[in-house]
Amino acid sequence: MGEVRWTKEQLLAINEKDKNILVAAAAGSGKTAVLVERIINKIVKEKIDIDKILVVTFTKATASEMRGRILDAIYKEIEKDSSNEHLQKQITLLSKSSICTIDAFCLDIVKNNFFEIGISPNLKIAESTEIEILKQEIIEDIFEEKYENGDKEFLEIVDEYTSYRGDDVLRDIVLEIYSYIQSTPFPEEWIKEKVEAFNLESTSFENTVWGRILFEKVKNELKDRNT
Ligand SMILES: Nc1ncnc2c1ncn2[C@@H]1O[C@H](COP(=O)(O)OP(=O)(O)OP(=O)(O)O)[C@@H](O)[C@H]1O
Ligand SMILES: [Mg+2]
Repeated sequence: MGEVRWTKEQLLAINEKDKNILVAAAAGSGKTAVLVERIINKIVKEKIDIDKILVVTFTKATASEMRGRILDAIYKEIEKDSSNEHLQKQITLLSKSSICTIDAFCLDIVKNNFFEIGISPNLKIAESTEIEILKQEIIEDIFEEKYENGDKEFLEIVDEYTSYRGDDVLRDIVLEIYSYIQSTPFPEEWIKEKVEAFNLESTSFENTVWGRILFEKVKNELKDRNT
């Protein structure tokens, strides 16, 4: 089998160094191939061991695809240079290399440093059903506690957002906000900042964040109608 003829763009992505690179291209267009080639170049040209390279993916399937393709590529290099001990060593090193999902990598760091963080070394990643149950239990506890303490601000919110049928609507809102803010880099800071926006200095609605958005929208709509 002949060598792959890399495209100009692929070559750029393979050879670029000392900077962050984002490779975005269509499905099946050769992104993984570029990544594998970068890794092989590091091993062959820079004599770096595969267990010194961190490769993280989002899914287990992609991680094992990566591992397989790197192994294939190493074998291909060995075919070209069968007496190369550095290359042969990579086959053994591959089994203890960090080619894994980002979750598995993070779990590894936490497990290897549990004494620093002060948590149990037996920790594991929860299944999504477990997480769902935990969430429900926790929100149950929090609501219970706030009802018992007669938390004034909480009761006002309950009044505002729930009906005589129960407070499920409010629970859902809280859980929805929770899952939404998980996609921000610093969820707690983000929500504090957004809550702060409600501390209005002026009383004129058009000067608030929401007022400005609404005014802009109405203005655009009116403009569209005039044309
Ligand atoms: N320049 C090229 N010339 C010929 N074949 C190529 C070239 N680049 C990649 N390929 C081949 O195309 C196929 C798809 O490549 P690859 O799996 O790397 O794509 P991908 O962008 O990662 O795909 P996906 O979006 O599914 O993850 C592979 O068989 C790969 O060897
Ligand atoms: Mg791919």
